[in-house]
Amino acid sequence: MIASIRRHLVSVNDLDAADIEDLLGNAAQLKRDRRPSPPPLSGRVAALIFEKPSLRTRMSFDVAMYELGGHAVYLSPAEVGLGRRESVADVARVVSRYSDIAILRTFAHETMEEFARYSTVPIVNGLSDLEHPCQGLSDLFTLAEAKGRLRNLTLAYVGDGNNVANALVLCAAKTGLRLRIACPEGYEPDPRYLARAREEEADLVIYHDARQAVDGADAIYTDVWTSMGQEAEYERRRHAFHGFQVNAQLLALARPDAIVLHDLPAHRGEEITDDVMDGPQSVVFEQAENRLHMQKAILIALLGRING
Ligand code: CP
Ligand code: NVA
Repeated sequence: MIASIRRHLVSVNDLDAADIEDLLGNAAQLKRDRRPSPPPLSGRVAALIFEKPSLRTRMSFDVAMYELGGHAVYLSPAEVGLGRRESVADVARVVSRYSDIAILRTFAHETMEEFARYSTVPIVNGLSDLEHPCQGLSDLFTLAEAKGRLRNLTLAYVGDGNNVANALVLCAAKTGLRLRIACPEGYEPDPRYLARAREEEADLVIYHDARQAVDGADAIYTDVWTSMGQEAEYERRRHAFHGFQVNAQLLALARPDAIVLHDLPAHRGEEITDDVMDGPQSVVFEQAENRLHMQKAILIALLGRING
């Protein structure tokens, strides 16, 4: 069982390699035994506090709590008013009185860090502008499940160096996954994340040509070119990312048994074509399901114990 996981999961950096290995093992067990008995989180309450829309994160955390015997309370972007209706610190203090854990989705990563400072219950980053750790950790699970290993597996991430890419950079650094990132110049992952990965001697290369990154890869990953909050940049980004679409021609450069991942939601016809997303190499919906299993493992690591 995870020994060293910190009280909060704000960043993949809150975990070490052994924690991630434990989470992967526990997620696999929870996928096999979807409703463990006795329920490990019986009577526990999770607050879901979201400043942005969500399908997967919201629903998978809600279902995870239900299937583990607990309960989730969702507060929508309109209801929260973090730092506007009331200070972030006061929301954190109040939420801590009602719930055992809080899952946050914020625009600014600093809001999440501020909340963590004042919360007396664990908090989980359900996406910020800087990082999406639950996504990255779930994706490690999907890769390991499909390929049987992470070390020396080559993942080519084609697209924006966004919050998902930042999480993948840290995930790769901590697991020995080889990461090849292809993005237009100026759209690289956050330099602090790249520096951290280099400190950890990650096998990480950045390309500005998608074909080079994908050549011989075991898996290809993409995400939207315009993330939540960047809508005003849509036209500029659509232009900048020309040549970074995951389509059949690009996929043909990867290994024949390569899998295709996308964290979703997808903008079909932009970063990924229908034929690839719906094709035999795509695991995107298994990947979406795996959010549930990995997040159960995270909730149990922060709150309880897995049976047996
Ligand atoms: N992948 C993901 O986090 O999806 P949502 O934005 O729908 O939660
Ligand atoms: N990059 C995306 C991730 C969505 C799950 C965003 O923040 O919009």
